[in-house]
Amino acid sequence: MNLTPNEIVEYLDKYVISQKDAKKTIALALRTRYRRMQLSQELQDEIMPKNILMIGSTGVGKTEISRRLAKMMKVPFIKVEASKYTEVGFVGRDVESMIRDLVISSIAIVKQEKKEQNKEKIENYVLNKIVEKLLPALPDAASESKKDDYQRLLSAMEEKVISGEMDERIIELQFDKVNLEFNDTNLPPEMAKVQESFSKIFETMNKEDTKKEVTVKDAKSILKVEASHKLLDMTNINNEALKRAEDGGIIFLDEIDKIAISAKSQGRNDPSKEGVQRDLLPIVEGSSVTTKYGVINTDHILFIAAGAFHVTKPSDLIPELQGRFPLRVELESLTEETLYQILTQTQSSLLRQYEALLAVEDVKLIFEDAAIKAIAKLSHRANETTEDIGARRLHTVLERVLEEISFEADAYKEKEFIVTDKLVHDKLDIVVEDDDLSRYIL
Ligand SMILES: Nc1ncnc2c1ncn2[C@@H]1O[C@H](COP(=O)(O)OP(=O)(O)OP(=O)(O)O)[C@@H](O)[C@H]1O
Ligand SMILES: [Mg+2]
Repeated sequence: MNLTPNEIVEYLDKYVISQKDAKKTIALALRTRYRRMQLSQELQDEIMPKNILMIGSTGVGKTEISRRLAKMMKVPFIKVEASKYTEVGFVGRDVESMIRDLVISSIAIVKQEKKEQNKEKIENYVLNKIVEKLLPALPDAASESKKDDYQRLLSAMEEKVISGEMDERIIELQFDKVNLEFNDTNLPPEMAKVQESFSKIFETMNKEDTKKEVTVKDAKSILKVEASHKLLDMTNINNEALKRAEDGGIIFLDEIDKIAISAKSQGRNDPSKEGVQRDLLPIVEGSSVTTKYGVINTDHILFIAAGAFHVTKPSDLIPELQGRFPLRVELESLTEETLYQILTQTQSSLLRQYEALLAVEDVKLIFEDAAIKAIAKLSHRANETTEDIGARRLHTVLERVLEEISFEADAYKEKEFIVTDKLVHDKLDIVVEDDDLSRYIL
Protein backbone atom coordinates (compact mmCIF):
# COMPACT_ATOMS: atom_id res chain seq x y z
CA MET A 1 0.00 0.00 0.00
CA ASN A 2 1.68 3.20 -1.02
CA LEU A 3 -0.79 5.98 -0.50
CA THR A 4 0.70 9.23 0.71
CA PRO A 5 -0.42 10.62 4.06
CA ASN A 6 -2.52 13.17 2.24
CA GLU A 7 -4.26 10.52 0.20
CA ILE A 8 -5.07 8.49 3.27
CA VAL A 9 -6.52 11.52 5.03
CA GLU A 10 -8.47 12.38 1.91
CA TYR A 11 -9.96 8.92 1.82
CA LEU A 12 -10.91 9.03 5.48
CA ASP A 13 -12.45 12.48 5.01
CA LYS A 14 -15.13 10.90 2.87
CA TYR A 15 -16.44 8.94 5.81
CA VAL A 16 -15.27 10.60 8.98
CA ILE A 17 -15.86 14.28 9.69
CA SER A 18 -13.25 16.39 11.49
CA GLN A 19 -10.81 14.45 13.77
CA LYS A 20 -7.93 15.82 11.71
CA ASP A 21 -5.29 14.98 14.30
CA ALA A 22 -6.21 11.34 14.54
CA LYS A 23 -6.35 10.94 10.79
CA LYS A 24 -3.00 12.63 10.32
CA THR A 25 -1.26 10.60 12.98
CA ILE A 26 -2.52 7.35 11.56
CA ALA A 27 -1.73 8.34 8.00
CA LEU A 28 1.79 9.21 9.00
CA ALA A 29 2.30 5.97 10.89
CA LEU A 30 1.22 4.04 7.82
CA ARG A 31 3.50 5.99 5.54
CA THR A 32 6.43 5.47 7.87
CA ARG A 33 6.01 1.74 7.47
CA TYR A 34 6.08 2.12 3.74
CA ARG A 35 9.23 4.20 3.99
CA ARG A 36 10.83 1.60 6.23
CA MET A 37 10.24 -1.13 3.70
CA GLN A 38 12.31 0.77 1.16
CA LEU A 39 15.41 0.69 3.36
CA SER A 40 18.18 -1.84 3.76
CA GLN A 41 17.42 -4.87 5.90
CA GLU A 42 19.80 -3.65 8.55
CA LEU A 43 18.06 -0.31 8.99
CA GLN A 44 14.65 -1.96 8.71
CA ASP A 45 15.36 -4.01 11.78
CA GLU A 46 16.17 -0.89 13.76
CA ILE A 47 13.04 1.05 12.98
CA MET A 48 10.22 0.15 15.31
CA PRO A 49 6.68 1.28 14.71
CA LYS A 50 5.30 3.89 17.07
CA ASN A 51 2.04 2.61 18.38
CA ILE A 52 -0.90 4.96 18.64
CA LEU A 53 -3.42 5.56 21.39
CA MET A 54 -6.64 7.27 20.31
CA ILE A 55 -8.59 8.89 23.08
CA GLY A 56 -12.05 10.28 22.58
CA SER A 57 -15.44 10.04 24.16
CA THR A 58 -18.00 7.62 22.88
CA GLY A 59 -19.44 8.03 19.40
CA VAL A 60 -16.90 10.44 17.96
CA GLY A 61 -15.52 8.16 15.28
CA LYS A 62 -12.79 5.98 16.77
CA THR A 63 -14.15 2.69 15.57
CA GLU A 64 -15.39 4.30 12.39
CA ILE A 65 -11.86 5.37 11.47
CA SER A 66 -10.60 1.83 11.96
CA ARG A 67 -13.47 0.31 9.99
CA ARG A 68 -12.72 2.55 7.06
CA LEU A 69 -9.01 1.86 7.25
CA ALA A 70 -9.69 -1.85 7.22
CA LYS A 71 -11.74 -1.52 4.07
CA MET A 72 -9.25 0.66 2.30
CA MET A 73 -6.04 -1.09 3.06
CA LYS A 74 -4.55 -4.03 1.35
CA VAL A 75 -2.42 -4.85 4.37
CA PRO A 76 -3.23 -7.46 6.99
CA PHE A 77 -5.50 -5.70 9.42
CA ILE A 78 -7.65 -6.89 12.26
CA LYS A 79 -9.73 -5.19 14.88
CA VAL A 80 -10.22 -6.74 18.27
CA GLU A 81 -11.93 -5.56 21.43
CA ALA A 82 -9.38 -5.67 24.22
CA SER A 83 -12.23 -6.25 26.64
CA LYS A 84 -13.16 -9.57 25.08
CA TYR A 85 -10.13 -11.21 26.66
CA THR A 86 -11.55 -10.55 30.10
CA GLU A 87 -14.94 -12.06 29.39
CA VAL A 88 -16.24 -14.48 31.97
CA GLY A 89 -15.72 -18.00 30.82
CA PHE A 90 -12.86 -16.94 28.66
CA VAL A 91 -10.35 -16.44 31.41
CA GLY A 92 -7.10 -17.70 30.08
CA ARG A 93 -8.20 -17.20 26.54
CA ASP A 94 -4.93 -16.39 24.97
CA VAL A 95 -4.22 -12.93 23.78
CA GLU A 96 -1.89 -14.42 21.20
CA SER A 97 -4.90 -15.50 19.21
CA MET A 98 -5.04 -11.97 17.79
CA ILE A 99 -1.74 -12.61 16.08
CA ARG A 100 -3.11 -15.82 14.61
CA ASP A 101 -6.13 -13.91 13.35
CA LEU A 102 -3.81 -11.40 11.77
CA VAL A 103 -1.97 -14.16 9.94
CA ILE A 104 -5.24 -15.60 8.71
CA SER A 105 -6.28 -12.21 7.40
CA SER A 106 -2.91 -11.95 5.71
CA ILE A 107 -3.32 -15.34 4.09
CA ALA A 108 -6.68 -14.30 2.73
CA ILE A 109 -5.11 -11.26 1.10
CA VAL A 110 -2.20 -13.13 -0.44
CA LYS A 111 -4.45 -15.96 -1.59
CA GLN A 112 -6.79 -13.51 -3.27
CA GLU A 113 -3.85 -11.92 -5.06
CA LYS A 114 -2.54 -15.26 -6.25
CA LYS A 115 -5.99 -16.26 -7.40
CA GLU A 116 -6.17 -13.13 -9.47
CA GLN A 117 -2.73 -13.73 -10.93
CA ASN A 118 -3.73 -17.28 -11.83
CA LYS A 119 -7.26 -16.43 -12.86
CA GLU A 120 -6.87 -17.78 -16.36
CA LYS A 121 -5.31 -21.04 -15.24
CA ILE A 122 -8.04 -21.58 -12.70
CA GLU A 123 -10.78 -20.82 -15.21
CA ASN A 124 -9.25 -23.19 -17.72
CA TYR A 125 -9.05 -25.93 -15.17
CA VAL A 126 -12.71 -25.51 -14.30
CA LEU A 127 -13.77 -25.36 -17.92
CA ASN A 128 -11.80 -28.43 -18.94
CA LYS A 129 -13.19 -30.49 -16.09
CA ILE A 130 -16.76 -29.59 -16.91
CA VAL A 131 -16.46 -30.05 -20.66
CA GLU A 132 -14.81 -33.39 -20.04
CA LYS A 133 -17.99 -34.53 -18.31
CA LEU A 134 -20.37 -33.16 -20.88
CA LEU A 135 -18.52 -34.39 -23.93
CA PRO A 136 -17.17 -37.93 -23.89
CA ALA A 137 -13.58 -38.09 -25.08
CA LEU A 138 -12.79 -39.21 -28.60
CA PRO A 139 -11.09 -42.60 -28.99
CA ASP A 140 -7.43 -42.28 -29.97
CA ALA A 141 -7.98 -44.19 -33.17
CA ALA A 142 -10.40 -41.63 -34.58
CA SER A 143 -9.78 -40.35 -38.07
CA GLU A 144 -8.46 -36.88 -38.81
CA SER A 145 -11.80 -35.55 -39.98
CA LYS A 146 -13.48 -36.93 -36.87
CA LYS A 147 -10.92 -35.12 -34.82
CA ASP A 148 -11.69 -31.88 -36.57
CA ASP A 149 -15.39 -32.35 -35.98
CA TYR A 150 -14.72 -33.09 -32.38
CA GLN A 151 -12.62 -29.97 -32.03
CA ARG A 152 -15.52 -27.91 -33.30
CA LEU A 153 -17.93 -29.58 -30.91
CA LEU A 154 -15.54 -28.96 -28.11
CA SER A 155 -15.26 -25.23 -28.73
CA ALA A 156 -19.00 -24.95 -29.08
CA MET A 157 -19.46 -26.75 -25.78
CA GLU A 158 -16.92 -24.52 -24.11
CA GLU A 159 -18.81 -21.47 -25.27
CA LYS A 160 -22.04 -22.88 -23.92
CA VAL A 161 -20.51 -23.63 -20.54
CA ILE A 162 -19.02 -20.16 -20.31
CA SER A 163 -22.21 -18.40 -21.33
CA GLY A 164 -24.14 -20.29 -18.67
CA GLU A 165 -26.35 -22.09 -21.15
CA MET A 166 -25.45 -25.42 -19.59
CA ASP A 167 -25.82 -24.23 -15.99
CA GLU A 168 -28.83 -26.41 -15.22
CA ARG A 169 -27.34 -29.64 -16.57
CA ILE A 170 -26.41 -32.27 -14.05
CA ILE A 171 -22.95 -33.78 -14.10
CA GLU A 172 -21.19 -36.21 -11.83
CA LEU A 173 -18.26 -34.75 -9.99
CA GLN A 174 -15.57 -36.62 -8.21
CA PHE A 175 -13.97 -34.69 -5.46
CA ASP A 176 -11.96 -35.34 -2.40
CA LYS A 177 -13.11 -33.87 0.84
CA VAL A 178 -9.76 -32.67 2.09
CA ASN A 179 -11.05 -29.18 1.64
CA LEU A 180 -12.65 -29.05 5.02
CA GLU A 181 -10.61 -26.67 7.02
CA PHE A 182 -10.88 -25.67 10.61
CA ASN A 183 -10.12 -22.07 11.08
CA ASP A 184 -12.21 -21.12 14.03
CA THR A 185 -9.78 -19.05 15.98
CA ASN A 186 -12.20 -18.14 18.71
CA LEU A 187 -11.42 -21.22 20.67
CA PRO A 188 -9.40 -21.33 23.84
CA PRO A 189 -5.84 -22.55 23.24
CA GLU A 190 -6.29 -26.08 24.55
CA MET A 191 -9.32 -26.57 22.36
CA ALA A 192 -7.52 -25.17 19.37
CA LYS A 193 -4.87 -27.82 19.77
CA VAL A 194 -7.40 -30.63 20.07
CA GLN A 195 -9.12 -29.28 17.02
CA GLU A 196 -5.93 -29.24 15.05
CA SER A 197 -5.25 -32.88 15.70
CA PHE A 198 -8.84 -33.64 14.78
CA SER A 199 -8.54 -31.92 11.48
CA LYS A 200 -5.43 -33.96 10.76
CA ILE A 201 -7.31 -37.18 11.47
CA PHE A 202 -10.16 -36.05 9.28
CA GLU A 203 -7.82 -35.28 6.47
CA THR A 204 -6.52 -38.82 6.39
CA MET A 205 -9.97 -40.30 6.85
CA ASN A 206 -11.47 -38.40 3.99
CA LYS A 207 -8.85 -39.30 1.49
CA GLU A 208 -11.14 -41.64 -0.40
CA ASP A 209 -12.95 -39.93 -3.20
CA THR A 210 -16.61 -39.21 -3.25
CA LYS A 211 -18.88 -38.86 -6.22
CA LYS A 212 -21.74 -36.50 -6.32
CA GLU A 213 -24.23 -35.23 -8.86
CA VAL A 214 -24.32 -31.49 -9.15
CA THR A 215 -25.48 -28.86 -11.61
CA VAL A 216 -22.90 -27.31 -13.88
CA LYS A 217 -23.49 -24.07 -12.07
CA ASP A 218 -22.53 -25.55 -8.72
CA ALA A 219 -19.69 -27.46 -10.31
CA LYS A 220 -18.20 -24.17 -11.39
CA SER A 221 -17.82 -22.94 -7.84
CA ILE A 222 -16.80 -26.31 -6.44
CA LEU A 223 -14.14 -26.78 -9.08
CA LYS A 224 -12.88 -23.28 -8.55
CA VAL A 225 -12.03 -24.13 -4.97
CA GLU A 226 -10.43 -27.37 -6.07
CA ALA A 227 -8.45 -25.55 -8.74
CA SER A 228 -7.04 -23.02 -6.30
CA HIS A 229 -6.08 -25.89 -4.05
CA LYS A 230 -4.29 -27.71 -6.78
CA LEU A 231 -2.78 -24.83 -8.70
CA LEU A 232 -1.73 -22.49 -5.92
CA ASP A 233 1.27 -23.29 -3.82
CA MET A 234 -0.08 -23.02 -0.30
CA THR A 235 3.28 -23.26 1.43
CA ASN A 236 4.43 -20.35 -0.60
CA ILE A 237 1.32 -18.38 0.19
CA ASN A 238 1.62 -19.07 3.90
CA ASN A 239 5.21 -17.95 3.98
CA GLU A 240 4.52 -14.77 2.14
CA ALA A 241 1.50 -14.10 4.33
CA LEU A 242 3.57 -14.53 7.47
CA LYS A 243 6.14 -12.12 6.17
CA ARG A 244 3.55 -9.55 5.26
CA ALA A 245 1.80 -9.76 8.60
CA GLU A 246 5.17 -9.36 10.26
CA ASP A 247 6.18 -6.26 8.31
CA GLY A 248 2.89 -4.60 7.52
CA GLY A 249 0.31 -5.98 9.90
CA ILE A 250 -1.89 -3.62 11.87
CA ILE A 251 -3.87 -4.54 14.94
CA PHE A 252 -6.58 -2.22 16.09
CA LEU A 253 -7.14 -2.70 19.80
CA ASP A 254 -10.52 -1.20 20.48
CA GLU A 255 -12.01 -0.57 23.93
CA ILE A 256 -8.60 -0.55 25.56
CA ASP A 257 -9.98 1.62 28.35
CA LYS A 258 -12.09 -1.36 29.44
CA ILE A 259 -9.01 -3.22 30.59
CA ALA A 260 -7.62 -0.30 32.56
CA ILE A 261 -8.26 -0.36 36.28
CA SER A 262 -9.54 2.89 37.71
CA ALA A 263 -7.38 4.13 40.59
CA LYS A 264 -10.47 4.71 42.73
CA SER A 265 -11.95 1.28 42.51
CA GLN A 266 -8.75 -0.72 42.61
CA GLY A 267 -9.07 -4.04 44.31
CA ARG A 268 -12.77 -4.42 43.60
CA ASN A 269 -12.01 -4.69 39.95
CA ASP A 270 -11.77 -7.74 37.84
CA PRO A 271 -8.26 -9.11 38.37
CA SER A 272 -8.31 -10.51 34.86
CA LYS A 273 -8.01 -6.98 33.49
CA GLU A 274 -4.50 -6.56 34.73
CA GLY A 275 -3.76 -10.07 33.54
CA VAL A 276 -4.84 -9.14 30.05
CA GLN A 277 -2.63 -6.07 30.13
CA ARG A 278 0.31 -8.21 31.18
CA ASP A 279 -0.44 -10.69 28.43
CA LEU A 280 -0.58 -7.89 25.90
CA LEU A 281 2.80 -6.50 26.88
CA PRO A 282 5.10 -9.01 25.19
CA ILE A 283 3.00 -9.00 22.04
CA VAL A 284 2.99 -5.22 21.72
CA GLU A 285 6.63 -5.09 22.73
CA GLY A 286 7.68 -7.68 20.20
CA SER A 287 7.91 -11.42 20.65
CA SER A 288 7.61 -14.60 18.66
CA VAL A 289 4.24 -16.22 18.38
CA THR A 290 3.74 -19.70 17.03
CA THR A 291 0.85 -20.17 14.67
CA LYS A 292 -0.06 -23.20 12.70
CA TYR A 293 1.35 -21.45 9.66
CA GLY A 294 4.70 -20.78 11.22
CA VAL A 295 6.39 -18.53 13.72
CA ILE A 296 5.74 -14.82 13.48
CA ASN A 297 7.65 -12.05 15.14
CA THR A 298 5.51 -9.16 16.40
CA ASP A 299 8.25 -6.50 16.55
CA HIS A 300 7.04 -4.52 13.57
CA ILE A 301 3.30 -4.96 13.84
CA LEU A 302 1.60 -1.62 14.33
CA PHE A 303 -0.87 -1.37 17.18
CA ILE A 304 -3.53 1.29 17.26
CA ALA A 305 -5.41 1.32 20.52
CA ALA A 306 -8.58 3.28 21.12
CA GLY A 307 -10.74 4.00 24.09
CA ALA A 308 -13.23 6.47 25.48
CA PHE A 309 -11.51 6.60 28.86
CA HIS A 310 -14.63 7.88 30.61
CA VAL A 311 -14.14 6.02 33.85
CA THR A 312 -10.47 5.29 33.54
CA LYS A 313 -7.54 7.30 32.24
CA PRO A 314 -4.62 6.20 30.08
CA SER A 315 -2.53 6.48 33.24
CA ASP A 316 -4.65 3.71 34.75
CA LEU A 317 -3.05 1.23 32.40
CA ILE A 318 0.01 -0.48 33.79
CA PRO A 319 3.02 1.78 33.16
CA GLU A 320 4.81 -0.69 30.90
CA LEU A 321 1.83 -0.80 28.59
CA GLN A 322 1.37 2.98 28.58
CA GLY A 323 4.94 3.29 27.43
CA ARG A 324 4.26 1.10 24.43
CA PHE A 325 1.83 3.65 23.02
CA PRO A 326 3.94 6.77 22.62
CA LEU A 327 1.71 8.55 20.13
CA ARG A 328 -1.42 9.98 21.71
CA VAL A 329 -4.21 11.59 19.78
CA GLU A 330 -7.36 13.03 21.16
CA LEU A 331 -10.56 13.04 19.19
CA GLU A 332 -12.72 16.09 19.47
CA SER A 333 -16.25 16.10 20.79
CA LEU A 334 -18.76 16.69 18.06
CA THR A 335 -20.23 20.14 17.67
CA GLU A 336 -23.54 21.12 16.13
CA GLU A 337 -21.67 21.91 12.94
CA THR A 338 -19.85 18.56 12.77
CA LEU A 339 -23.10 16.73 13.45
CA TYR A 340 -24.65 18.58 10.53
CA GLN A 341 -21.72 17.60 8.34
CA ILE A 342 -21.94 13.99 9.42
CA LEU A 343 -25.54 14.01 8.26
CA THR A 344 -24.93 15.72 4.96
CA GLN A 345 -21.38 15.08 3.83
CA THR A 346 -20.46 11.51 4.60
CA GLN A 347 -20.87 8.78 2.05
CA SER A 348 -23.74 6.51 3.00
CA SER A 349 -24.75 8.90 5.77
CA LEU A 350 -27.77 8.17 7.91
CA LEU A 351 -29.98 10.38 5.76
CA ARG A 352 -28.98 8.48 2.62
CA GLN A 353 -29.69 5.23 4.43
CA TYR A 354 -33.21 6.27 5.41
CA GLU A 355 -33.88 7.59 1.92
CA ALA A 356 -32.79 4.29 0.44
CA LEU A 357 -34.81 2.25 2.91
CA LEU A 358 -37.99 4.17 2.20
CA ALA A 359 -37.35 4.11 -1.52
CA VAL A 360 -37.92 0.38 -1.26
CA GLU A 361 -41.50 1.24 -0.29
CA ASP A 362 -41.76 3.71 -3.16
CA VAL A 363 -41.70 6.68 -0.83
CA LYS A 364 -39.51 9.59 -1.75
CA LEU A 365 -38.08 10.95 1.47
CA ILE A 366 -36.87 14.52 1.32
CA PHE A 367 -35.05 16.36 4.06
CA GLU A 368 -35.32 20.14 4.09
CA ASP A 369 -32.03 21.75 4.92
CA ALA A 370 -33.61 23.59 7.83
CA ALA A 371 -34.81 20.26 9.16
CA ILE A 372 -31.31 18.77 9.02
CA LYS A 373 -29.95 21.80 10.83
CA ALA A 374 -32.61 21.39 13.49
CA ILE A 375 -31.76 17.70 13.88
CA ALA A 376 -28.09 18.57 14.37
CA LYS A 377 -28.95 21.30 16.83
CA LEU A 378 -31.30 19.23 18.93
CA SER A 379 -28.94 16.25 18.91
CA HIS A 380 -26.19 18.47 20.15
CA ARG A 381 -28.48 19.89 22.83
CA ALA A 382 -29.40 16.41 23.99
CA ASN A 383 -25.72 15.50 24.13
CA GLU A 384 -25.07 18.49 26.34
CA THR A 385 -27.94 18.05 28.72
CA THR A 386 -27.72 14.30 29.16
CA GLU A 387 -24.66 12.25 28.21
CA ASP A 388 -22.43 13.04 25.27
CA ILE A 389 -22.83 10.02 23.06
CA GLY A 390 -21.54 11.78 19.96
CA ALA A 391 -22.91 10.89 16.58
CA ARG A 392 -24.77 7.95 18.03
CA ARG A 393 -27.34 10.51 19.16
CA LEU A 394 -28.28 11.05 15.55
CA HIS A 395 -29.56 7.50 15.32
CA THR A 396 -32.02 7.85 18.16
CA VAL A 397 -33.07 11.34 17.15
CA LEU A 398 -33.70 10.38 13.53
CA GLU A 399 -35.53 7.27 14.57
CA ARG A 400 -37.84 9.44 16.62
CA VAL A 401 -38.40 11.95 13.82
CA LEU A 402 -39.12 9.27 11.26
CA GLU A 403 -40.97 6.72 13.36
CA GLU A 404 -44.37 7.52 11.86
CA ILE A 405 -43.41 7.64 8.24
CA SER A 406 -41.37 4.46 8.67
CA PHE A 407 -44.42 2.71 10.03
CA GLU A 408 -47.00 4.26 7.70
CA ALA A 409 -44.84 4.03 4.61
CA ASP A 410 -47.51 2.27 2.56
CA ALA A 411 -49.85 5.27 2.94
CA TYR A 412 -47.25 7.39 1.14
CA LYS A 413 -46.62 4.97 -1.68
CA GLU A 414 -45.48 6.79 -4.80
CA LYS A 415 -45.59 10.09 -2.95
CA GLU A 416 -43.07 12.41 -1.45
CA PHE A 417 -42.62 12.81 2.24
CA ILE A 418 -40.91 16.01 3.22
CA VAL A 419 -39.18 16.23 6.57
CA THR A 420 -39.64 19.84 7.56
CA ASP A 421 -38.18 21.98 10.27
CA LYS A 422 -41.61 21.99 11.86
CA LEU A 423 -41.88 18.22 11.94
CA VAL A 424 -38.51 17.94 13.65
CA HIS A 425 -39.46 20.46 16.30
CA ASP A 426 -42.90 18.93 16.80
CA LYS A 427 -41.33 15.56 17.40
CA LEU A 428 -38.40 16.61 19.50
CA ASP A 429 -38.97 19.85 21.35
CA ILE A 430 -40.88 18.45 24.29
CA VAL A 431 -38.45 15.57 24.60
CA VAL A 432 -35.28 17.63 24.45
CA GLU A 433 -36.62 20.27 26.85
CA ASP A 434 -37.34 17.63 29.43
CA ASP A 435 -34.16 16.05 30.78
CA ASP A 436 -35.89 13.02 32.19
CA LEU A 437 -37.81 12.33 29.04
CA SER A 438 -34.77 12.66 26.82
CA ARG A 439 -32.84 10.29 29.01
CA TYR A 440 -35.45 7.67 28.19
CA ILE A 441 -36.25 8.43 24.63
CA LEU A 442 -33.16 9.85 22.97
N1 LIG B 1 -16.50 12.09 13.11
C1 LIG B 1 -17.45 11.31 12.58
N2 LIG B 1 -17.74 11.37 11.27
C2 LIG B 1 -18.69 10.59 10.74
N3 LIG B 1 -19.41 9.70 11.40
C3 LIG B 1 -19.18 9.58 12.71
C4 LIG B 1 -18.18 10.36 13.36
N4 LIG B 1 -18.16 10.03 14.65
C5 LIG B 1 -19.07 9.06 14.80
N5 LIG B 1 -19.70 8.79 13.64
C6 LIG B 1 -20.79 7.81 13.48
O1 LIG B 1 -21.30 7.49 14.77
C7 LIG B 1 -21.39 6.11 15.00
C8 LIG B 1 -20.54 5.69 16.19
O2 LIG B 1 -19.17 6.00 15.97
P1 LIG B 1 -17.97 5.06 16.43
O3 LIG B 1 -18.42 3.64 16.39
O4 LIG B 1 -16.80 5.41 15.64
O5 LIG B 1 -17.81 5.51 17.93
P2 LIG B 1 -16.55 5.30 18.89
O6 LIG B 1 -15.76 6.56 18.89
O7 LIG B 1 -15.85 4.06 18.54
O8 LIG B 1 -17.30 5.17 20.30
P3 LIG B 1 -17.11 4.09 21.50
O9 LIG B 1 -16.09 4.65 22.40
O10 LIG B 1 -18.46 4.07 22.12
O11 LIG B 1 -16.73 2.79 20.88
C9 LIG B 1 -20.95 5.44 13.73
O12 LIG B 1 -22.11 5.01 13.07
C10 LIG B 1 -20.27 6.52 12.90
O13 LIG B 1 -20.61 6.41 11.56
MG1 LIG C 1 -15.80 2.13 19.36
